[in-house]
Amino acid sequence: MATASFIEEPHSQLWQDPSTQAFSVPVERRTNDIVATIAGGRIDERKNSLMSSVPVAEGVAVIAATTVGRTQGRAARGREPWPGGDGRATKGLSMIVVSAASGGLGRRVVDHLLARRPASQVAVAARTPERVADLAARGVQVRHGDYDAPDTLRSAFEGADRLLLISSPELDPARRIKQHQAAIDAARATGVGAVAYTSFLEADTRSDGVTSAHHATEQALKASGLPHTVLRHPFYSEGFLRPALHSALASGELRDATDGRGLNTASRADLAEAAAHVLTEEDHVGGAYDFTGPLWSYPDLVQALARVCGRPVAHRLGHERAEGVQGWLEEQIRSGVLERQTDDLRQVLRRAPATLDETLTELLADTSG
Ligand SMILES: NC(=O)c1ccc[n+]([C@@H]2O[C@H](COP(=O)([O-])OP(=O)(O)OC[C@H]3O[C@@H](n4cnc5c(N)ncnc54)[C@H](OP(=O)(O)O)[C@@H]3O)[C@@H](O)[C@H]2O)c1
Repeated sequence: MATASFIEEPHSQLWQDPSTQAFSVPVERRTNDIVATIAGGRIDERKNSLMSSVPVAEGVAVIAATTVGRTQGRAARGREPWPGGDGRATKGLSMIVVSAASGGLGRRVVDHLLARRPASQVAVAARTPERVADLAARGVQVRHGDYDAPDTLRSAFEGADRLLLISSPELDPARRIKQHQAAIDAARATGVGAVAYTSFLEADTRSDGVTSAHHATEQALKASGLPHTVLRHPFYSEGFLRPALHSALASGELRDATDGRGLNTASRADLAEAAAHVLTEEDHVGGAYDFTGPLWSYPDLVQALARVCGRPVAHRLGHERAEGVQGWLEEQIRSGVLERQTDDLRQVLRRAPATLDETLTELLADTSG
C-alpha cells in the first residue's frame, strides 16, 4: 500500500501516489461530506473523516474531509474567520506528540492535553529531556527530539497521530528553516497523521523579516503533503506586559513611545490552550488560524497596571528611540501593523481571550510567588 500525497490546485484536489505517480483524483465537495471520484470510476464517501495520509491501493482512494473544502473556501473568500472547529473530541487518536516541549508554550500545551487525554496518549519531544523529567513522572513519554539532529526526530515522532511542531527559537532564519524542514521530513517519514505548526501572523503572505522562516515552513508543510493546521501567533502579551509591570512596580511609571496605536498580542497561556483544542478536536486539520487577542494600547495598559497593582501609574510619553529590539518593536506598533484583529482565537477557545487585567494579574502572581 502506498501513501498518497496532496497537491493543491486552483479548481480541484489531486492526489498522487508518490512512488508511481499513477493517478490523480478529482474531488467534488459537499457541505458536510466529500465524494472522491477516481479515474477508474469507483466512488467512496466518508463523512467527517480525518484528512490524513491517504491509503491508495488497487486503484481505490478514500479522500477526506470537510476541512479541505473549508480551507479552499476561506482562501477563495479572502480572510474570513475560520470556523474554529466544532469542539467534538477526536476519536481513535492514540498518540499526540509535542515538540520543543520544555519551553513555556510546550509545557502549557502539555498541561492542557493532560486535562483532556490520559498521559499514555501524550508524548513530548525535547532537545534536553532532563528538563521535562517532571512530565515523565506524570506518565508522559519523554523522547529525545533535537531539530538539529534529524535521527532523533524520527524516533521522537514515531506513532504520532498528531504532532505539534513548535517553532524553534533559533534566530538565524536559514538555520531555523533547516530545523523545521528536518522536523517536517521526519514527520513525513514516520507517517505522522497530522501536524499543527506554530507560525506567525502574516507568514502566509510575507516572506521577509520576522516571518521569513515561518513563511518557508508553511510552504514546506504544503509541499510535504502532510495534513496540517497552521496556528499563526501574534506577539506574546507577556513580552510587553512583564517589563511594563516591572516598570510600574519599580518606578510607578510606564514609558510609552507608541503614539497611541494598538497591539493585538495574545497570552501564551491562551495560545497553548488553543493548540490543545486543535490537537484534540475534530475539524481543525487543513485550516489556518490567525490568532489575535483583544486589541489594547499603552494608555489602556497604564490604567490596567494601576488597577492590578493598586497604585497610580504615571504615563510617560517619550519619543526617543529605545535600544535594539525594543526600538524595532515600537516602530512596528507606531506603524499600525499590530492592530489587525481576527476572531480566530476566540472561536477556537470558545471564550474570549484573556484581557490585559487577567494577564497582568497572572504575571503579578508569578512575580510575587
Ligand atoms: N509570538 C511570540 O511573541 C514569540 C515569543 C517568543 C518565542 N516565540 C516562538 O515560539 C516558540 C515557543 O515559545 P516558547 O515561549 O515556548 O519558547 P521558550 O520558552 O524559549 O522555549 C523554546 C523551546 O525550544 C526548544 N529548542 C531550542 N532549540 C531546539 C532544538 N534544536 N531542537 C528542539 N528543541 C529546541 C527549547 O529546548 P531546550 O529546553 O533544550 O532549550 C525549548 O523547549 C519559540 O521557540 C519561538 O519560535 C514566539
